[in-house]
Amino acid sequence: MQIGLLTGGGDCPGLNAVIRAVVRKGQIQYGDLLTGFRDGWRGLIDNDAIELDVESCRGILPKGGTILGTSRTNPLKLEGGIEKVKETIRSRNLDGLIVIGGDDTLGVAHELSLHDIENELPIIVGVPKTIDNDLAATEVTFGFHTAVQIATDAIDRLHTTAESHDRVIVCEVMGRHAGWIATYAGIAGGAAEILIPEEPFDIGEICTKLTERHKKGRYASVVVIAEGAIPKDGTMQTVASGLDQFGHVRLGGIGALLAAEIEQRTGMESRVTILGHIQRGGTPTAFDRVLATRFGVAAIDAVHDRAANTMVALEAGSIIRVPLAQAIAQPKTVDPKLLHDVAGLFFS
Ligand code: F6P
Repeated sequence: MQIGLLTGGGDCPGLNAVIRAVVRKGQIQYGDLLTGFRDGWRGLIDNDAIELDVESCRGILPKGGTILGTSRTNPLKLEGGIEKVKETIRSRNLDGLIVIGGDDTLGVAHELSLHDIENELPIIVGVPKTIDNDLAATEVTFGFHTAVQIATDAIDRLHTTAESHDRVIVCEVMGRHAGWIATYAGIAGGAAEILIPEEPFDIGEICTKLTERHKKGRYASVVVIAEGAIPKDGTMQTVASGLDQFGHVRLGGIGALLAAEIEQRTGMESRVTILGHIQRGGTPTAFDRVLATRFGVAAIDAVHDRAANTMVALEAGSIIRVPLAQAIAQPKTVDPKLLHDVAGLFFS
C-alpha cells in the first residue's frame, strides 16, 4: 500500500515513536511505501512531503518533537483547501492516511470523510496525541505522561526556592480547557492548591487558606494553576487574547494575574513560573514511548484491515478502534472529585 502520515496541532513527546512504529511495521511486515507530509494538513494542501523508510527513521524513538513538522493549518478554513488536499491524495495514489493529532487535526479528518461523496479518500486512521489528555475516547494520550513528569520536577524545584524565601510561588501549567496536567502534577508535587478549569476558583477563599497556612507556620506555598482555569464570576479580573485557525483562544498568563492578586490581598511575597512549552519539549518518558509505539503499530494494522475513519485508543490496557466521530465528539475533562478526595492533604 501507499500510505501517508501527518502530525498536526501542538507537538508532543512521542510523535516520532509513532512515526517510527508505523514505518517499521509498514515497510518490514506489509511492504508498504510510506510518505510523510510536512507540517500537518499544510503538507497535504501544498503537496509537500518526504519519503519515509526504516533508515530515515533510525534513532528517532527517544527524540521529542516531530521529524515531519507540525502546524495548526486548517484546510476547512482555507479557500479551496479541501480540493487541494484531495488533489494531493490523487496525485500520490494514497491508499491510506494516518493522521496523528488532537481533536482539531482529527476533526479535519472526520470532516473530510463526511464530504467524501465520490469515495475518493484513502483509508483514514487517527492516532490520538496531546499533552492535554483531553480526548474522551482514549484512557490516555501519549505525551501526557511526559508533560506531567516535567511539571512535577519543576514543582519539586519550586518548593525548595519557595521555602528558602518564604514565598508563594504560582506555577502555571498547560492543558487548555482541561485540568489533567495541573491535577496530576499538582498532586504528585504536593501543591498547596490546585486550580483547574473544571471548577472556577474563588480568589478570596484561596487567599484565606494561604493566610491560615502561614499562621500555622508554613511559610512557603506552591499553587498550581492550569492555564485554562477561571475565577468565579467577578472575583478576579482576567484578560482575553487572540484566536487560532481552529477558533481556540490563546491561553497563558492567568498565573501572573493570580500571583499579583495573592500578593496584593495577603501581603505575602509571590512569584510566578509559567512552564509553557517546556512541557511539550524533549525526550518522551518510557511510558509514552511504549504507548506511542503501540498506537503506531495498531494504526498501520487498522489501515490494512480497511478500518476507515477510526481512531486507535487505549481502553483498559488494550488498544481498540473507535469511530472518528466518537473520538472527537466531546472533550475529556477532570472530575473535580479527584481533587476533592485528596484536598485534605494539601493544607497541613
Ligand atoms: O494542546 C497542546 C497545547 O500545548 C496546550 O496545552 C496549549 O494551550 C497550546 O497547545 C499552546 O499552543 P501553541 O504551541 O500554539 O502556543
